[in-house]
Amino acid sequence: MKSGEVLVIDLFAGPGGLGEGISSTTHSNGNKPFQIGVSVEKEPSAHKTLTTRALFRKLAKEPTAKQHYYDYVQGKITREQLFKLYPNEALAAQEETLKAPRALGIDNDLIHARIKELVSKHKGPKIVIGGPPCQAYSLAGRSRNAGNKDYKAENDERHFLYMEYLRVLTIAQPDVFIMENVRGILSAKLNGKVMFPQILKDLRNPGRVTKIKDTASYRIYSLVINAKNPNNPQYSDSADFLIRSEQYGIPQARHRVILLGVRDDIKKTPQILTRAAESITVKETLSDLPALRSGFSKQPDTTIAWEKTITKHSRQLVKAFKKIYPEEAINNLDLTPLLDLPRASSIHTNRVNNQVPEPLKGWLLDDSLGCVLNHETRGHIEADLLRYAFCAAYAQLNDGVSPKSRDFPEELAPEHKNWTTGTHADRFRVQSANKYATTVTSHISKDGHYFVHYDPRQCRSLTVREAARLQTFPDNYLFEGNRTQQYVQVGNAVPPYLAQQIGQVVLQLLSI
Ligand SMILES: C[S@@+](CC[C@H](N)C(=O)[O-])C[C@H]1O[C@@H](n2cnc3c(N)ncnc32)[C@H](O)[C@@H]1O
Repeated sequence: MKSGEVLVIDLFAGPGGLGEGISSTTHSNGNKPFQIGVSVEKEPSAHKTLTTRALFRKLAKEPTAKQHYYDYVQGKITREQLFKLYPNEALAAQEETLKAPRALGIDNDLIHARIKELVSKHKGPKIVIGGPPCQAYSLAGRSRNAGNKDYKAENDERHFLYMEYLRVLTIAQPDVFIMENVRGILSAKLNGKVMFPQILKDLRNPGRVTKIKDTASYRIYSLVINAKNPNNPQYSDSADFLIRSEQYGIPQARHRVILLGVRDDIKKTPQILTRAAESITVKETLSDLPALRSGFSKQPDTTIAWEKTITKHSRQLVKAFKKIYPEEAINNLDLTPLLDLPRASSIHTNRVNNQVPEPLKGWLLDDSLGCVLNHETRGHIEADLLRYAFCAAYAQLNDGVSPKSRDFPEELAPEHKNWTTGTHADRFRVQSANKYATTVTSHISKDGHYFVHYDPRQCRSLTVREAARLQTFPDNYLFEGNRTQQYVQVGNAVPPYLAQQIGQVVLQLLSI
């Protein structure tokens, strides 16, 4: 690493959303000072994505090399060929991701040794980013666990994976750390006690917990609320640490706790993030991507069969809507299925008509990419397709509101015993065109019910690329692994564009 650069240690890295944003942070002189030294990730497909992206970053500095990356993502050469073409960069990328998926808590010897080596060689500032996995803290996780009478939070290793994080903090003693977690961390309890104040205490003084002497202590800041006393930041409400991503130029209501730890010897106070003037809608973010049709999962899947079914559905829907809505409203509704749609498309024909507002547009689009990545629909059962078309059309008639189960015509109700009880009132949700999206979670990998595309004529759930756009991954970011794994990766990530804004705050703080 060169002088003036900041060493980044990325833990629980997922597909690298946080790392992507931080490493894209640009100095006023055009330099990108944050250099990822190591990304630790245990899941093989996310690890593969991370390694491909690490290589991309190294190749992007040189036009011919960058073109070879495009050749790979366009399917002209294999990944192996790309890595062989650039052996030095490939080795560096593989070293960056520790040559294989690695788990904190299991591969500690190797991970800690690498971190120590990087830290000892690097004389400049360093930061630790990432958050321990959130399942045990997450609200959904807790309600799921509540039904399990043998579940004991204190025996759940995920509950204490943040100890691994503290351990790395004591080893690396970074200038700054950025810890991300789900909202549920604020209210998570252990033996009836809210854990968050203890987590803050631990993070302020990680050495006390890991019992490693003479280690640094930290002040912990919110990135959205100014501390009353910047030298000793305390917040009256733990929700002050919650970032509502939609307020910062992300087309998605993603509410996450992000803590900014600043080593006590660094006397500067971090600024807070600047709110965006306007929120960005789903349609603005997605409308230029190729239109696609959904597929059938349990019957022959041909374009002709799909068109026939969707035409039948649209007649059925118009009939149902006519019972409720005035004629004019129905006339404005276009349910005619789009014809000859493919299920996947890598050809970005509508690029020039994209509506993404700047600066997000400059962040997402890549003029040289020449294709669309990870844009392929899933198969669904025919009855769900009708429900998807209903959701999308209902939102058009109701100012973008997604229907609750009670709003569905009886004949569309799934055979689900909770359908009418209200406990699953939101079993289907359309991502309305003229609003920001709801949180893109890894649940998107299970089914598309919460992520229905706003266009009833396409009648489908979002593709990985569309979810990635809502998460603000640049279009040239390739997700490796199978489609389910790609969805999980996207749903788990920190929006890179948000991370880049956090990077700017850290850059200013470090005065480099
Ligand atoms: C919420 S995701 C992180 C997202 C990431 N910060 C981003 O911005 O893309 C958490 C990740 O931690 C990984 N993970 C879980 N336990 C781990 C462990 N013990 N060691 C390394 N990675 C782990 C999971 O596979 C998952 O990809």
